[in-house]
Amino acid sequence: MLRMVVLASGRGSNLLAILKAIESGRLSGQVAAVISDREDAKALDHARARQIPALWVNPKLGDGKAGYEQRLLAAVSACQPDCIVLAGYMRILGSQFVHEAGVPIFNIHPALLPAFPGLHAQAQAVEYGVRYSGCTVHFVDEGVDTGPIIDQAVVRVLPEDTQETLSARILAEEHKLYAQVLELYSQGRIRREGRRVTIL
Ligand code: GAR
Repeated sequence: MLRMVVLASGRGSNLLAILKAIESGRLSGQVAAVISDREDAKALDHARARQIPALWVNPKLGDGKAGYEQRLLAAVSACQPDCIVLAGYMRILGSQFVHEAGVPIFNIHPALLPAFPGLHAQAQAVEYGVRYSGCTVHFVDEGVDTGPIIDQAVVRVLPEDTQETLSARILAEEHKLYAQVLELYSQGRIRREGRRVTIL
């Protein structure tokens, strides 16, 4: 059973989708804790409602990014997870955290990487005028949304789409894709060699 720590900054709908996948038996795993950089993150409420430890690690204690990430790493490590799952975690993890974590870190991004990394990916896609966008689950490395891609889901961009309508359709795909990828990982079916990821 996959033991996960979920990092989330906001609404927590991807966290909820993961929890529902576990509850329905589609994902053989357990969320050991949900940790947020925001005290008011809805994701923490979702965890508390299920008696899952919910922690706020304050990024503004005056000890800088390095200090914050050391505290974050200590909180994560105390849970002894098999992996770290970023679900709408809106900070860029430093290379020290990524290397010292010692377990894979997964992220979901609302675009077909390497297109539209960073913030407001859905708005970037609408503005650019692409016909297809979607979402990507990838391993986290030191870059911004640059880690090895594990899987993607494609969403058609409609002429009348706004950032909001496209985001909603992409989000529905995110909710399916993330749990699927995590289940593949829990089954030992994801192999990573450099940038190339194979699903066995
Ligand atoms: C999701 O669309 C996720 O892909 C995105 O934030 C949203 C979080 O929603 N993540 C990023 O943009 C990370 N760069 P949620 O809190 O409802 O899961």
